[in-house]
Amino acid sequence: MFFELTEEQQAVQQAARDFAQNVLKPGVIERDREMRYPKDEVRQMQEMGFLGMMVSPEYGGGGMDTLSYVLAMEEISKVDASCSVIMSVNNSLVCWGLEAFGNEEQRQKYLTRLAGGEWIGAFCLSEPEAGSDATHQRTTAVDMGDYYLLNGTKNWITNGSTSNVHLVMAQTHPEKGHHGINCLIVETDWDGVIVGAKEDKLGIRGSDTNSIMYTDVKVPKANRIGDEGFGFKFAMKTLDGGRIGIAAQALGIAGGAYELAVAYAKERQAFGKPIANHQAIAFKLADMATEIEAAKLLVYRAAWLKDQRMDYSTASAMAKVFASEVAMRITIEAVQVHGGYGYVKEYHVERLMRDAKITQIYEGTSEIQRIVISRAILQGQLYVPSWTDTTAATV
Ligand code: CAA
Repeated sequence: MFFELTEEQQAVQQAARDFAQNVLKPGVIERDREMRYPKDEVRQMQEMGFLGMMVSPEYGGGGMDTLSYVLAMEEISKVDASCSVIMSVNNSLVCWGLEAFGNEEQRQKYLTRLAGGEWIGAFCLSEPEAGSDATHQRTTAVDMGDYYLLNGTKNWITNGSTSNVHLVMAQTHPEKGHHGINCLIVETDWDGVIVGAKEDKLGIRGSDTNSIMYTDVKVPKANRIGDEGFGFKFAMKTLDGGRIGIAAQALGIAGGAYELAVAYAKERQAFGKPIANHQAIAFKLADMATEIEAAKLLVYRAAWLKDQRMDYSTASAMAKVFASEVAMRITIEAVQVHGGYGYVKEYHVERLMRDAKITQIYEGTSEIQRIVISRAILQGQLYVPSWTDTTAATV
């Protein structure tokens, strides 16, 4: 078993670290306070190739493996989780979904622009009454012959107001249940696409999250991804990979808070010595480091399984539920280590604590991840296969 990163992976990690520390950190507190979208920073992420990292170079992407993407997500999330969610949705939901399941025409028309960051994408599954219960789509795509007529409302859409393309799940044949759902590629400047107000959120306040209303939007049949009725499976398969991205985000948030806590504990004096030398604080740091290492193994392993084209659905759910809960615990502890300073914005840890919470909610709540994991167990799938068990290959 090897734990070393390749030279290329180390280079990606270093580039993302430098970018996060030098470019993202200086304005992150102000962007959070003012709910300001990181427009210039997203443009720089585009220039550095962070928006289409796993897409084949043939379509303008970086052609990197999932682990490289995870490493970049981690470093960027240590500093600015608003930037990393913009990056995550574009990479692992929109670009990956289009490359894996779109046809050649769709890839040429949309993926090439999305992978290079010229366009930004959004993934539109959640609805006011269909969040965790994603099969109950109320948005309709009525078959009109050579186009679908799209009507409905989507909620909590990341990149809601800044995206050029939406992947929209909509019900075409209600009598078929989830087998009647289609995924449609919708350009946001088409008639009938209306973006609601930006949500005023607890965390990831720089990213834009909006409701989207579709009113009689004409979507050409050519913009359906996959066969008729493939939309729900598309969403589930895409989210399996998306959850690795969010797990990496959680890992990064935890790592960022931990690094700040260690630095502060070594510097801050109390009772005649640095607080890191008091066992109460030293043990907190030990627990934080141990939990981060455990989360890292799960997240990297899920990425590795995906790169090996092995089944990673349960592994990504495990990585997400564990890493997001670690992120929550560690950011709370980092605030505690900082004492009163942790409670003010200047020291960054209160923001990381607020940002951590969403990782337990989006791309499937912790409760949904436990449904996915427990169903796999009860269906008799021996999960936690040996790393070398190639019989687990299904993708
Ligand atoms: N891969 C492929 N197919 C899958 C699948 C997967 N991972 N998971 C489920 N399916 C298939 C099932 O096989 C089934 O197909 P058949 O009927 O043909 O056998 C079908 O999907 C329905 O599955 P279930 O019967 O298990 O459906 P369910 O309603 O009981 O549960 C669920 C499904 C797992 C709870 C699902 O609804 C779910 O994941 N909910 C959470 C939704 C979610 O993650 N939303 C996130 C929004 S996107 C977002 O947050 C992005 C952002 O902006 C940051």
